[in-house]
Amino acid sequence: MCKDGRLGYASARMAERDPDASASLDPIARLETLDRQALEAGGARRVQRQHEQGKLTARERIELLLDPGTFVETDRLVKHQCRDFGMEEQRIPGDGVVTGYGKVDGRQVFVFAQDFTVFGGSLSSAFAGKIAKIMDLALQTGAPVIGLNDSGGARIQEGVQSLAGYADIFTRNVLSSGVIPQISAIMGPCAGGAVYSPAMTDFIFMVEESSYMFITGPEVIKTVTHEEVTKEELGGARTHAARSGVSHVTCADDADCLRAVRELLGFLPSNNHEMPPVSACTDPRDREDAALEDLVPADPMKPYDMKRVIGAVVDEGDFFEVQPDYAKNMLIGFARFEGHPVGIVANQPMVLAGCLDIDASVKAARFVRFCDCFNLPIVTFVDVPGFLPGTDQEYGGIIRHGAKLLYAFTEATIPKVTVITRKAYGGAYDVMASKHIRGDISFAYPTAEIAVMGPDGAVNIIYRKEIAAAEDPVAAKDAFVADYRRRFANPFRAAELGFIDEVIYPRKTRPRVCAALDMLRDKRATNPPKKHGNPPL
Ligand code: HXC
Repeated sequence: MCKDGRLGYASARMAERDPDASASLDPIARLETLDRQALEAGGARRVQRQHEQGKLTARERIELLLDPGTFVETDRLVKHQCRDFGMEEQRIPGDGVVTGYGKVDGRQVFVFAQDFTVFGGSLSSAFAGKIAKIMDLALQTGAPVIGLNDSGGARIQEGVQSLAGYADIFTRNVLSSGVIPQISAIMGPCAGGAVYSPAMTDFIFMVEESSYMFITGPEVIKTVTHEEVTKEELGGARTHAARSGVSHVTCADDADCLRAVRELLGFLPSNNHEMPPVSACTDPRDREDAALEDLVPADPMKPYDMKRVIGAVVDEGDFFEVQPDYAKNMLIGFARFEGHPVGIVANQPMVLAGCLDIDASVKAARFVRFCDCFNLPIVTFVDVPGFLPGTDQEYGGIIRHGAKLLYAFTEATIPKVTVITRKAYGGAYDVMASKHIRGDISFAYPTAEIAVMGPDGAVNIIYRKEIAAAEDPVAAKDAFVADYRRRFANPFRAAELGFIDEVIYPRKTRPRVCAALDMLRDKRATNPPKKHGNPPL
């Protein structure tokens, strides 16, 4: 133990005071010394503090993330080059980030884990260089990158060099986007501009109680806006899961988080040139589920849980839901049919009657684009009465946000299978992966209602005069509604026009979806050549 109580930096310091101290050792002893210093990292006291906060160390996290014994470390001997603020005396091999590669379920991944026990996991130029190096290797070899974030941000002693290091990482995030999956786990602090690297990755996992993300912390906010807010309220896991929509998966602790990251990787291909990995499947493709026949209530105003439909049709009922606490009127996540991974997008009639609003549109649009990048077919379950009315929505820009979802579904060239369980009204019908925007196969339940608008609104407009002139306006309206429902609020007109490929018995949903996906397995579709499109971001 070092006399100043700073365990861990001590041996590094001794070596640095006399730069030749380790150089005078024979090569093997020198390597052993450097290795030991790297493994000691910030030292026993800081490791103990990490554990007391319920957090694992960077190396413990990597052990849990990867298949046992597969981790190969890179740049273990890299040190920072800072000579200010006495930093020349504190140079730990590895410099606060553990980087390398290994396997998850036998498949190659690259990983970096920020080590809060070394300078609070703060990012130096050397630290950034290590991350950039594995990001380059990942891009060149076509393998996912997983970042385990636990950092006090820019290494204050390094100033602008640290900012340059962040920008090097941001650049690689952008260049890798859509080529290899990028996953961020937030397992401690992540503040300031540092948040923008995770923000540009495909999925953000956050650990409850120990992680937080914000651009400016509570103190700055108090000074500028006089608002008082705790770190947890401002940027904790629950806030980003339910309010901001920044995070995608919330986890109870580090181990739960790393297990969930492995589970997600099981749905994803390693890169955009590969197909997603196929798992063994014992769930029969022709399995029917009679419970689906009664799931959609006869009363169109009555809600039901779309998760039950999803659970009844996917392999083993296994649905990996993404962003379950945000924009709950829209469900997104991963599942499998006959062992083949797919993305699921679904309206949830239990919340806001399944209406499309700003948050739901943005949530689903980004997910659809992810699936399209990585060759994941999309199965869409539709029960949508329309876009949510209201000044909040209009002033908030539902026009451009709703257009994001329309754009994403239309642009996507992966197989798209749609099941309309009940309402599919107005623009929302078009948007929700209809055939008109290049949906491949559309099914509808006999209970489906496909029309310009719901019967109530429709008769109020087209029969306004007749209703007003009637002796009994209520009875007259009821009669018009019943007539409209019979003529338009059903799937048969759309099926007559070929907009619906088949009106199916609900219990046959799984067999039909399996067959459609199987038929579409070799689908080839492209978009016109262009630099890139211009979605209404
Ligand atoms: C250098 C840092 C550091 C940093 C923490 N440490 N952050 N060293 N640069 N940014 C060191 C501390 O000195 C301490 O060293 C050890 O890490 C642990 O820090 P503590 O403060 O003891 O930990 P804790 O109480 O848990 O608080 C964690 C914290 C706090 C909330 C993250 O450390 C903090 O506020 N740090 C500064 C955050 C910050 O302002 N960063 C810059 C943001 S701007 P010892 O030796 O005592 O163990 C930014 C710009 C990025 O990041 C721009 C990108 C474009």
